[in-house]
Amino acid sequence: MIKIASSLLSANFVRLEEEINNIQQAGADILHLDIMDGHFVPNLTFGLPVIKQIKDIAQIPVDVHLMVTNPDVYLETLGKWNIDYVSFHQEAESHIHRQLKVLQEKGVKAGIALNPATPVETIFPVIADLDFVLIMSVNPGFGGQSFIPLVYKKIEILRKLADQINPDLEIEVDGGVNNINAAKLINTGADILVAGSFVFGSDDYKKQIQSLRNK
Ligand code: DX5
Ligand code: ZN
Repeated sequence: MIKIASSLLSANFVRLEEEINNIQQAGADILHLDIMDGHFVPNLTFGLPVIKQIKDIAQIPVDVHLMVTNPDVYLETLGKWNIDYVSFHQEAESHIHRQLKVLQEKGVKAGIALNPATPVETIFPVIADLDFVLIMSVNPGFGGQSFIPLVYKKIEILRKLADQINPDLEIEVDGGVNNINAAKLINTGADILVAGSFVFGSDDYKKQIQSLRNK
């Protein structure tokens, strides 16, 4: 069963609580929070205090996607707050195995995020230690960019290996997801689809979310 993670990056930040309530009522499975530091990506969003406030009112699981150069400084705190999913970028962290354990010891589902140009093979050594992998289908930093189709092959390779070594591993796809590519992503092996502008750019969140689920 596919899960739809709504990226709040494209929500109206002035009316954030209302947006969260509306997206939950529209059937989103997960709230996806994009944390950008202006270094790892050329954009800034919000940090720990806002994550905590969102977690306190969320009625569905919260998924924190760290697009930052020093993810290690966030992990303990996110674990303490019982954040449901946390991913950091393979390109930003030299001690992947250690940081995964920091999250998992606190009961957080731990994931690695991969930029479009990073081969999926780079995470094979830790595949048994991962709860999920976030495959970027745009270059991280902004909502509303065009989907990069090379990710289908990456999903296929990862799914095949995960089925042998870690069948519970979830594959999350993030960036440019819409009702045109969703079916192929699901059929290729995606378990979680992140959608920002496709959902929040419409007046009818429910219709958009349903159109992503319908193969
Ligand atoms: C981009 C973020 C995404 C983004 C997706 O760096 O990681 O989560 O919000 O937005 P859309 O769905 O508009 O591509
Ligand atoms: Zn994201």
